[in-house]
Amino acid sequence: MPDAGPSFTLVDVPGAVPLLGHLGAFRQHPLESLSSWWRRHGDALRFRLGQKTFYLFSHPDLAEEILVKQSDRFVKVYNPQKPHGLALVLGNGLVTSSGEVWKRHRRIIQPIFHRSRMAAMADRMTQVGDQRLSFWKDREGDTIDIAAEMMQLALEVISQTMFSTSMTQHTDRISHALQVSIKYAFDSFSNPLSLPLWVPTARNREFHSVMRFLDGLMYGLVAERRQSGVHHDDLLDLLLQARDEESGEGLSDRELRDEALTIFAAGHETTANALSWTWYLLATHPEAKARFHEEVDRVLQGRTPTADDLQHLPYTRAVFEESLRLYPPAPAVHRKATIDTTVGGLSLPEGAFVLVGTYNLHRHPDFWPQAEQFLPERWLDGERPRSRYAYMPFGAGPRTCVGLHFASVEGPLLLALIGRRYDLQLAQQSVEPYLMVTLRPKGGIRMTLQPRHVPLASAIAH
Ligand code: HEM
Repeated sequence: MPDAGPSFTLVDVPGAVPLLGHLGAFRQHPLESLSSWWRRHGDALRFRLGQKTFYLFSHPDLAEEILVKQSDRFVKVYNPQKPHGLALVLGNGLVTSSGEVWKRHRRIIQPIFHRSRMAAMADRMTQVGDQRLSFWKDREGDTIDIAAEMMQLALEVISQTMFSTSMTQHTDRISHALQVSIKYAFDSFSNPLSLPLWVPTARNREFHSVMRFLDGLMYGLVAERRQSGVHHDDLLDLLLQARDEESGEGLSDRELRDEALTIFAAGHETTANALSWTWYLLATHPEAKARFHEEVDRVLQGRTPTADDLQHLPYTRAVFEESLRLYPPAPAVHRKATIDTTVGGLSLPEGAFVLVGTYNLHRHPDFWPQAEQFLPERWLDGERPRSRYAYMPFGAGPRTCVGLHFASVEGPLLLALIGRRYDLQLAQQSVEPYLMVTLRPKGGIRMTLQPRHVPLASAIAH
């Protein structure tokens, strides 16, 4: 089914060197490379990392072709028999699997994210949030790394909502282990020359060590639940109860480990980064911050927010949406062509690697007025981007983020919860975005925890 939409011209990114192609620039500045190549050379580009040829598409029509219309021809890039990149960490879980395994597991996991469960999930989220804020009490006026705080908060939210367990004692180790392993996975993706895992380099040994820790934690969670026999009606229960329709068999321990770790990793890093960037944007846009605080104070009157409050917090939701536009936690979506095909009039060979440039789409001047500006107002009054696929922080098509509703509740809810008590002020000059699977603030974000003068009701509740 070749497409018959508008045609594009493919441009080869200049500056390729023999053997390595564009590897040097990409490895040094991955996000900058993807965005500056697009700005200079256009919406349909070709570049090379070592022997691998990549296509970078930064137009909504091309995104729709790859992720929606031809989603059966553009699949995830991982092979369970020869894991590389993220699959080295997540195995064959929902993010990295394809075909029948993916379909079956998505059917098992999806119900936990149903809208009807979100109110109960929201209560858990705010309990976890309140608990975290109680640690902040002694640090008022101090400068903290808000990115590290948001990681810990989001990790605990996932642990409590999906696995009915607390990870507060392990959060530092888990954050560290995920950071080391995901960096390893990203390097192995972006550097085709990296040494194989069995070579006992310091880097490889560190990777094995953090993976042993994460494996122990995941297998431990599963074993503990099996032994206790207690039902929590959470994701872990759903995974343990799932049976194959034909064989009646349950998921293997390895499958359970892969899915649990996938939800841990995919479910906290993304939201944590989104929240961190939102605090940064608010801190650097005082008028938007004042309007956000005004809305939160007026609607909550000092109460802890609930899922129902979200409909009365349109500006807070708009702030979150606008932050996801400027700093999408997943700035590019990666696929591989299973067959020769045509996209936007361009021929792509079987095996071609495609990156859909979400970061670029979100800043495309043809689809966004004042594309580089932080303007939460653009989301009010139902104004939408000029093309549906110009905004896709959660992806598009069948592989759309399974946690979309969850994150859309969690983000604004935690913003309101924290914003009602604190005014977070930037305590450093600038923040540099840095791509490592997700889009992180390089080196964290130092912010001063300024307690707010809150309305009376909240002062009593505190
Ligand atoms: C702001 C927060 C989040 C953002 C921006 C985000 C973004 C994304 C994107 C772009 C994809 C699609 C990747 C692709 O097509 O290759 C995705 C997939 C996925 N996300 Fe999220 N995500 C967020 C939160 C969450 C949460 C809270 C969870 C779980 C609790 C989650 C779990 C997953 C899973 C399991 C997949 C794979 C789905 C599949 O392929 O069937 N995400 N996410």
